[in-house]
Amino acid sequence: MMILPGKTLGMLGGGQLGRMFTMSARTMGYKVIVLDPADNCPAGEIANFHIKADYENKEALAELGHKCDAVTTEFENVPAETLRYLTAFTQVHPTASNVAIAQDRMLEKQFMKENGFPIGPYTNITSHSDILSALTSVGLPSVLKLCRLGYDGKGQTIIFNEAEAHNAFDSLGRKPCVMEKLLTLDAEVSVIVARTHNETEVYPVSENRHVNAILDMSIVPARIERKLAEEVRSIAVNITHKMNYQGVMGVEFFIVAGKPYVNEIAPRPHNSGHYTQDACITSQFEQQVRTLCSLPLGSSSLLTPVVMINLLGDLWSHGEPDWRKVFTHPQAKLHLYGKHTARPGRKMAHINCIGNSIKNALATAEEIKQTLSRNTSLANNF
Ligand SMILES: Nc1ncnc2c1ncn2[C@@H]1O[C@H](COP(=O)(O)OP(=O)(O)OP(=O)(O)O)[C@@H](O)[C@H]1O
Ligand SMILES: [Mg+2]
Repeated sequence: MMILPGKTLGMLGGGQLGRMFTMSARTMGYKVIVLDPADNCPAGEIANFHIKADYENKEALAELGHKCDAVTTEFENVPAETLRYLTAFTQVHPTASNVAIAQDRMLEKQFMKENGFPIGPYTNITSHSDILSALTSVGLPSVLKLCRLGYDGKGQTIIFNEAEAHNAFDSLGRKPCVMEKLLTLDAEVSVIVARTHNETEVYPVSENRHVNAILDMSIVPARIERKLAEEVRSIAVNITHKMNYQGVMGVEFFIVAGKPYVNEIAPRPHNSGHYTQDACITSQFEQQVRTLCSLPLGSSSLLTPVVMINLLGDLWSHGEPDWRKVFTHPQAKLHLYGKHTARPGRKMAHINCIGNSIKNALATAEEIKQTLSRNTSLANNF
């Protein structure tokens, strides 16, 4: 049944993704309650109400469940058990079992393998005794990744020899890991899919550039062959079908020797889909509201070429960046998350640069990046 404006939606997690969901939901006339343990979290400041509590706090979850007509999440590290618990009170999408797959690399890769989706060579590592045979089957160099709780390249180490593999496993706390072959990438791309029980919308492919394993820039449409673009979009859609998924999903791909390999999935809007806010008919956050409320989906059509740049806390090393430098570009759209402390590597904002061609959009993006970082390094000299 459709949940219509005026009803109350719950969001687990108060970060920037929760904030942008909250903004879309409130624009459409819904009330939003955010549950997050932190004071002054980006989404809590925009929501109608912020329940300040841990994700395991049953009393707080019961309150959220009672007050909301449906609940969703902004990140995959909410315990799947929390989502399961909430179903006693209200509708929850995506489901606990969907999120359980996305929050554990071992389960995620097993799901891809079992369903015939292409992934790179990997092996599960649960003890030191798994390492030698893993190196033989996967090859060197490889990447050791924690199965759970990694993000932005945290919880992963590149391995060049056996000794490094043992050391890395120790420094990751001997927790369950996967070892992946370090692939030589032609490119990285991603696709956002929105799905309800009876409808699917798939966005155009985004070409992603990473710096230090953190997304730096997304270019849309991706500069890859049409056939390859259609292939990755259809893999992404098929993943949501196989999971019987209701919600928005981001699917990350590696392109190796012209072929796509699924890297990982996110059971929520994705950083590489922020371009949809200014360049598509329907943003990924509005689509998240629509999927949660079982509304008809909005069009995912792209209206214009676009380049998104992420602004990390490093740019704040000498105070707030000079936003006047951004506002002089009439086709640049600033999205600032309202985080109270900047740390190196922390995602603080993004800017969507529109252009009548990718070349123009890229030129604006590069100019803004340079101006903002020049400001930081100038300040460094004082
Ligand atoms: N097997 C691999 N071969 C080549 N590059 C890799 C491999 N695994 C990871 N990388 C690089 O590191 C980046 C981050 O890896 P991954 O997506 O697994 O980590 P993450 O910490 O979950 O990141 P996020 O959640 O921010 O997307 C990738 O986008 C890619 O640039
Ligand atoms: Mg990733």
